[in-house]
Amino acid sequence: MNRYPSIAYLRRCARRRIPHFAWEYIDSGTGADECVRRNREALSAVTLIPQFMKGEFEPDISTALFGIRYAAPLGVSPVGLTALMWPQAEQILARTAAKYRFPYSLSTAATEAPETIGPLVDGMGWFQLYPPRRAEIRRDLLIRARDAGFTTLLVTVDVPIASRRERQVHAGVSVPPKITPLMLYRCAVRPAWALATLRAGRPRFRGLEKYLDGRDMQQMLSFIGEELGGSFGWDYLQAVRDEWDGPMVIKGVLDVAQAERAVSLGLEGVMVSNHGGRQFDGAPAAISVLPGIARAVGDRAKILFDSGVRGGLDIARALALGADFVMLGRAFMFGVAALGRRGGDHAAEILIQDLKNNMIQLGCATLAELADRTSAIDG
Ligand SMILES: Cc1cc2nc3c(=O)[nH]c(=O)nc-3n(C[C@H](O)[C@H](O)[C@H](O)COP(=O)(O)O)c2cc1C
Repeated sequence: MNRYPSIAYLRRCARRRIPHFAWEYIDSGTGADECVRRNREALSAVTLIPQFMKGEFEPDISTALFGIRYAAPLGVSPVGLTALMWPQAEQILARTAAKYRFPYSLSTAATEAPETIGPLVDGMGWFQLYPPRRAEIRRDLLIRARDAGFTTLLVTVDVPIASRRERQVHAGVSVPPKITPLMLYRCAVRPAWALATLRAGRPRFRGLEKYLDGRDMQQMLSFIGEELGGSFGWDYLQAVRDEWDGPMVIKGVLDVAQAERAVSLGLEGVMVSNHGGRQFDGAPAAISVLPGIARAVGDRAKILFDSGVRGGLDIARALALGADFVMLGRAFMFGVAALGRRGGDHAAEILIQDLKNNMIQLGCATLAELADRTSAIDG
């Protein structure tokens, strides 16, 4: 903790530990990274008013969501091509989630299969669906997720088309990877990552291999483009609702009317998110639309939030502005990329200690008390 006391220190270390293309994959947004910046600036602009002389207390940060008690109101957002950041990153983060008792979300495009991660995550697993075009693949994925013990489904709706992500393109991120002299050089100057990757083998989309119908990894990209890509309509969301009998969350909402429509389909959760600024560079900061969506949805569904969260103070800010639960993508990935096996737990410790410390600064013994403390940004 003395060397890496915050997510910002883990980020700096991660940059030195993984190859340039992997760094660009995790860190970049899209376009000119304006939305990434906007997320940060808007979060920083949220101020909270402390109250003192409350006596000594240990804040209670546990919370119930969809009938499960979590030890903290935070969790890991789904991240695809995870092993590019660090081999077996999913296993590391699933173990962290099981130990600290908060959710870990496994992406459809993860490099481990639900069957591997389900047992490790010990009831704390959520599954993220990039909706397959073919109904039989969708149904099969949902059954596999359920059978592997994943309790909650996140359906990502904010990828109507692959984003251009210029930084990634320039860095040569591709599936399958193109082996060039420059790429080999970039690996060679990151020996710990290169050795760990050699030992674990090239990243594979293990959860999807079953559907390749004999096609090899070279054709995975076209498979993902054909089968998972593209926009879909509300009738599709309704079909997923009918097939998944557990809690279901729409991920990627920035608009009140869309949130309300999802709730009217019977979804239990709305995740306010702009995909961490990776899809549409003109999107508003996710935190700036959170209060309006939370107000409109009220008690009809739970409000989840991600995009730009880098510490306990940001978690407190989002909870104060109406979120019931806060998720983080890059913060956990920076931890794993920086510290490998120890990185998930280290990121969790930072976030939990920082949230508790900020709650004591604010004089809030419970998460509910955060609601009264906002002084800025509304609506
Ligand atoms: C490297 C990377 C890969 C991602 N892959 C997915 C994915 O497969 N599915 C998904 O729904 N969201 C994906 N996301 C978006 C995250 O789930 C989350 O919305 C975003 O990271 C939140 O912003 P933050 O990184 O600032 O916390 C990805 C994000 C990153 C950084």
